[in-house]
Amino acid sequence: MIHLKTDQEIEILRENNLLVSRTLAEVGKNIRPGVTTRELNRIAEEFIRANGAEPAFLGYQGYPASVCISVNEQVVHGIPGDRVINEGDIVSVDVGTFLKGFVGDSAYTFAVGEVSTEARRLLEVTKEALYKGTAQAKVGNRVGDISAAVQEYAESNGYGVVRELVGHGLGRKMHESPEVPNFGARGRGPLLKEGMVICIEPMINMGTKAVVFERDGWTVRTKDRKPSAHFEFAVAIRRDGPDVLTDFNIIEQALNTK
Ligand code: MF3
Ligand code: CO
Repeated sequence: MIHLKTDQEIEILRENNLLVSRTLAEVGKNIRPGVTTRELNRIAEEFIRANGAEPAFLGYQGYPASVCISVNEQVVHGIPGDRVINEGDIVSVDVGTFLKGFVGDSAYTFAVGEVSTEARRLLEVTKEALYKGTAQAKVGNRVGDISAAVQEYAESNGYGVVRELVGHGLGRKMHESPEVPNFGARGRGPLLKEGMVICIEPMINMGTKAVVFERDGWTVRTKDRKPSAHFEFAVAIRRDGPDVLTDFNIIEQALNTK
């Protein structure tokens, strides 16, 4: 069942996803060679709590940390720990908040210092794939219109689209209906209605689309160990078009003044 949100509920979801965006900016400012992913998790958790919210991921189905940090060949759900960030890495940070009965969930992939031209292009294409999908998030379209837009853009750039993990509805729960795959056919899937709030989150691999689930029970990595990128928006479907509740400008402005 798909929960439609009132305007007031959408504003609480916006509050959540703006806090997620500000948390991502805070983490991004602190990503530098030598920092551990554990330290980045601590910074995020303190920032979330200092702003009166709770980390939505902590304890979710037993997840042991407040954020997911996935480096290079790691696709998503990397558990923060001893891993040290290096120059040239790409680092996906996925943050969730719980505030006023609703959940925020968004992700950004950061470049650490000088990264290879190929990695830079992977980040740009993955973010653009998210924008192409978001443009389809409007009343009267179907989920497949979003999925196909993401898939076509990523694959036409020669990349692999991960199949095993998908976007989702967002509300009082982190994962609500409908599922929002990053692959599919135009005109298929659930109809998009006013008041739906969804997370669109392309996971795009530089090489093959195949992934492996690590034995820690969480981390997903590419089978060929080539890099992967992940960007995630929370988007409300409004009468006048997609209303993006996440704000990447906050993140990108923080990086420019780093
Ligand atoms: N953003 C992730 C998702 O949409 C949530 C991380 S899963 C958790 O699936 F277990 F870490 F919470
Ligand atoms: Co999500």
